[in-house]
Amino acid sequence: MSDKNLYPVPQEWAKRARVNAEKYAQLYGRALADPGSFWLEQARRLDWIKRPEIAGDWSFREEDFRISWFPDGKLNAAANCIDRHLKTRPDQVAILWEPDDPAEEARRFTYRELHAEVCRFANVLKGQGVQKGDRVTIYLPMIPEAAFAILACARIGAIHSVVFGGFSPEALAGRIQDCDSKIVVTADEGRRGGKRVPLKANVDAAAVHTPSLEKVVVVRATGGDVAMTAGRDAWYHDLARDADGDCPCEPMGAEDPLFILYTSGSTGKPKGVLHTTGGYLVWVALTHELTFDYQPGSIYWCAADIGWVTGHSYILYGPLANGATTMMYEGVPNWPTPSRIWEVVDKHGVEIVYTAPTALRALMREGDDWVKRTSRGSLKLLGTVGEPINPEAWRWYHEVVGEGRCPIIDTWWQTETGGTMIAPLPGATDLKPGSATKPMPGIDPQIVDGDGNVLQGAAEGNLVIAKSWPGQMRTVWGDHGRFFQTYFSTYPGKYFTGDGARRDEDGYYWITGRVDDVLNVSGHRMGTAEIESALVLHPKVAEAAVVGMPHEIKGQGIYAYVTLNAGEEPGDDLRGALGKWVRTEIGPIATPDAIQFAPGLPKTRSGKIMRRILRKIAEGDVSNLGDISTLADPAVVDDLVANRVS
Ligand code: WT7
Repeated sequence: MSDKNLYPVPQEWAKRARVNAEKYAQLYGRALADPGSFWLEQARRLDWIKRPEIAGDWSFREEDFRISWFPDGKLNAAANCIDRHLKTRPDQVAILWEPDDPAEEARRFTYRELHAEVCRFANVLKGQGVQKGDRVTIYLPMIPEAAFAILACARIGAIHSVVFGGFSPEALAGRIQDCDSKIVVTADEGRRGGKRVPLKANVDAAAVHTPSLEKVVVVRATGGDVAMTAGRDAWYHDLARDADGDCPCEPMGAEDPLFILYTSGSTGKPKGVLHTTGGYLVWVALTHELTFDYQPGSIYWCAADIGWVTGHSYILYGPLANGATTMMYEGVPNWPTPSRIWEVVDKHGVEIVYTAPTALRALMREGDDWVKRTSRGSLKLLGTVGEPINPEAWRWYHEVVGEGRCPIIDTWWQTETGGTMIAPLPGATDLKPGSATKPMPGIDPQIVDGDGNVLQGAAEGNLVIAKSWPGQMRTVWGDHGRFFQTYFSTYPGKYFTGDGARRDEDGYYWITGRVDDVLNVSGHRMGTAEIESALVLHPKVAEAAVVGMPHEIKGQGIYAYVTLNAGEEPGDDLRGALGKWVRTEIGPIATPDAIQFAPGLPKTRSGKIMRRILRKIAEGDVSNLGDISTLADPAVVDDLVANRVS
């Protein structure tokens, strides 16, 4: 108690929560000691068409590399998220939708209504020729139809690939093509913070590069003017008019694909992370219940976008599998004012809020008044995800937002892991600000050094996971070799997360950030290679290197070093043009925060760019550049230091 960096589990939480410290120890021990029976028991939280008799069957070794969970089971994810609740809670609100503009009405869909909407959407997709196993690209704003479209795919066994509405036409085109999807579901426009996003126009621009695309289904969201291409485009409301409100669920093998979600890696183009049906759903249902101690009747709000894995797992699949009331918010945290999140909490009696540290840092900067003018009396638990939370933001969340009453649940996980991996359980885990604390049942984290030696006790190094878990991704779409190479070749026999971590003397994990060339900008993952490829596509650019730099609100900012073609003049105009170029190539989230024109980049004699040096300069840590004697031309460093952009 005397340690101001330790927040013990409150008494009432230890009593009330599903899992207390003792139960956690039991669950954790059993899951690793007897995974077969533990996971078959966990599988019972779902409704199966054929209940599995096999749990995990996996090996991370190259010679017999395989990952499968519940392979003999059959089920349907939409049936688990909707139909099975029709018996027990047909009139409970499943999805509570809060619009961008607070002057507009919120919308509510009970489980019965959700069933009808999803069936109708499923029949519309079928009418467009979509069959089991087909890929459906979903490029929608945060409107209820996004949930309907996703669940409709699950219902008919189509594989959804949701592309974040903030991605550019080029990025969208790449994702449509990579999985060879023949249909895109989009909207006329999106709305965020009072601004409009031209989604349909973006699809039109993307379609120029996507020969596989045959159909575009357009949801009317804003009523904005859009062009419709005859034979290819159709309005959803026209197609839905005659669509049946009932649609049978396709029986799926547990290992049949559920969705693809593209994410940036340290090299090359974004990877299509593939999740399958049974293991994923068991994992998100279990982790949603444990990390949030979800209790029936609670109003639960995950403030992520449906375009990221957080939205997939914790707006839709996890909470709906558990029969929750899940909120979907169309807007942004700070519009019309920095009070908005807390006003929405009061308006709907939200008990659980789950958001990103970057949003908290931005709101914290606006001052406590915006928070204090709201009640927040309904709040019970506050979660964070996406990046390390600095202790200052943690304490602000705990003390100002939660008035000291709500546990802060800092959840570490990845698109690849399907659901939370390291996170406190509110009734079981004493909290330390900035630590994601302890692993979930079934998760066996290890800290290894550069040579792969497993470090014991208090240690810092690279974070690997030694055993498979049901929610693990199964492959990179279309490139199984890249899957193995990316995650299992660095430390043979182990899943490499790409993150560094420290384990303290109490066995608590502290994520220190990526150890590869992946940035985390406002909780969004950005591969430096992707931004570099975009920059070098510009006709005036010869070469580019991108690194991260500390950023007060975003966590990490994007710092780009650009070498121009001979004869090109650097200057602010070109700097602006390059920023705009990256926005168009990838999307606004990839816009560099700083661009430094560099006549040369620091390279080794073999031509490898020494990013360590570029990182140091971007961070402003120029007094300590380390050994530069192996550079082909050490003089370039002086120029880089002298022309640093601050
Ligand atoms: C990367 C994964 C998890 C869904 C959203 C992001 C970083 C994520 C935390 C956390 C420290 C975190 C890691 C990870 N990260 N959560 N609580 N503490 N770092 O998913 O886009 O796949 O990014 O985000 O670096 O590898 P993602």
